[in-house]
Amino acid sequence: MGKIRAAITGIHAWVPEYRLDNFELSRMVDTSDEWIMQRVGIRERRILRGEGLGTSDMADKAVMGLLEKTGTSPDEIEVLICATITPDMLFPATANIISDKAGIKNAFSFDLSAACSGFIFALHTGASFIETGRYKKIIIVGADKMSSITDYTDRTTCPLFGDAAAAVLLEPTTEELGVMDQILRVDGSGRKYLHMKAGGSVRPPSHETVDAKEHFIYQEGQTVFKFAVTSMADVAAEIMEKNNLKPDDIAYLVPHQANLRIIDATGRRMGLPPEKVMINIEKYGNTTAATIPLALWEYENRLRKGDNLILAAFGGGFTWGSLWLKWAYDPK
Ligand code: UT7
Repeated sequence: MGKIRAAITGIHAWVPEYRLDNFELSRMVDTSDEWIMQRVGIRERRILRGEGLGTSDMADKAVMGLLEKTGTSPDEIEVLICATITPDMLFPATANIISDKAGIKNAFSFDLSAACSGFIFALHTGASFIETGRYKKIIIVGADKMSSITDYTDRTTCPLFGDAAAAVLLEPTTEELGVMDQILRVDGSGRKYLHMKAGGSVRPPSHETVDAKEHFIYQEGQTVFKFAVTSMADVAAEIMEKNNLKPDDIAYLVPHQANLRIIDATGRRMGLPPEKVMINIEKYGNTTAATIPLALWEYENRLRKGDNLILAAFGGGFTWGSLWLKWAYDPK
């Protein structure tokens, strides 16, 4: 029998209805559609509105849709991993809340915090469970309500982020399909350039931290840009070299959607023409752990069984990585 690999056998996503476009943003802070489109490539982002709604509410909709679409009973799911940096609360894990809301009762579940690389890290983790031969159905969710940690008076960060959730079903296969290889990295010293200052055990929430606006994303954009543009392109090119994949072998690059300039640089470094790069940043902005599965979901009908995809991300931590995925099914 061939090696057991983990194949994505279904995908679903959910985005909030409300669209915050650049024109509305330019009435909130000193910015313009022109600046945001030229420097980042975002036209609008989705925002989850409504009292008491959090990351799990978006993720639940993505998971329920995935179960329905794949004809899977919640009882069959054995593991659910939620990649997020905007959990409903510090504890319990948002994955547990999603499992409860989706009626998943026979699984264990946990959150994985790797910011924008979260989906790739979680996909590798879930695939490793499948490869042991012990697990048959695992859900990986990437979900973030970035609007909950975005300061809408800070023009350097508020145009960048949006809210979304997307989920995939992982199942074993003995065909040459699914998660083939990955290169994952972290450098914790990069935390000083991209983090949230308060709310954790070092600086628990207080009147002082709220007044100082320390519960929002802090980012030194230019520095993060320099690390992102080299690390993401390097690791995407490296996984091609390591596996002897040429540009003609690749159907799509599936990049994290933080900045169109970073995406373009990564595609160029891999020698790919623009039509082989999945892009939806214009519509959703940076939805952190959700960007990659959201792009896969939007392109699902264009994917064919056996297509070689390179997933690549860079984000807070710093975390970064690439993953070679062979798509496992034709459009249904
Ligand atoms: O996903 C997690 C990882 N994060 C990333 O990958 C993000 C990486 N960084 C970036 O994508 C970019 O650095 C940003 C989009 C955040 C910023 O773009 P930039 O081209 O690096 O701009 P900058 O910070 O160098 O700012 C250039 C100018 C500044 O004005 P001065 O000092 O030249 O007069 C900023 O004050 O643009 C100004 N600026 C803005 N102007 C209009 C900054 N934000 C805005 C804005 N609207 N929203």
